[in-house]
Amino acid sequence: MTEKTAPTEIAIDPLLAGRWSPRAISNKAVSRELLHSVLEAARWAPSSSNMQPWRFLTFDRHHDEAAFQKAFATLVPFNQGWNANVPVLICVLAKTLTPKGDVNRTAPYDAGAAAMSLTLQAHALGLAAHQMAGFDINAFREAFSLPDDVEVIAMISLGHHGDPALLNDILRERENAPRARAPIGEIAFDGAWDKAFK
Ligand SMILES: Cc1cc2nc3c(=O)[nH]c(=O)nc-3n(C[C@H](O)[C@H](O)[C@H](O)COP(=O)(O)O)c2cc1C
Repeated sequence: MTEKTAPTEIAIDPLLAGRWSPRAISNKAVSRELLHSVLEAARWAPSSSNMQPWRFLTFDRHHDEAAFQKAFATLVPFNQGWNANVPVLICVLAKTLTPKGDVNRTAPYDAGAAAMSLTLQAHALGLAAHQMAGFDINAFREAFSLPDDVEVIAMISLGHHGDPALLNDILRERENAPRARAPIGEIAFDGAWDKAFK
């Protein structure tokens, strides 16, 4: 497995520094127990008023091939390419209304937090998890007859690490490229907008 620990400005927990988004994912099945474990991690994420607006639609090729293929068909061609053998896709969704029927403005934020917990748990278990926005949301909504108050947010590929040598040249190069981020002063401000944190 490729390791791509973040070259951080200051030390952070190895779990956070070590998580990354691999595309070399093996076709080996993910056990139901491992799948349950990553969903369990998502379940314990924080949310506004503990409303837990996140929902996860799981597609396990070795469990329900037809449902997997329906979800796979909504991926954009680029993502279909590197996901051709991925065993599990997980769609991240959010209930956009509170139990009272008001708009829950933090629903996507909470779902994102749950997705991050899921990907971190996957990494802790030695699995590869890779989030994707590249899929046809409307086709997905239609394929799974989703209710109007559910927002489709992202798809996550999940599997055991695969062999980067099987990726095409461009993706292999990206797989091996160092991870990069904007410097802290560009994204964190000190008491005033645009005043760089130092
Ligand atoms: C919401 C979201 C959507 C993404 N969409 C895609 C995608 O459609 N295809 C893809 O190959 N990677 C996708 N990525 C992966 C990002 O490119 C990746 O997280 C980013 O380059 C940082 O790399 P790292 O996660 O390895 O640190 C997505 C990531 C996120 C969080």
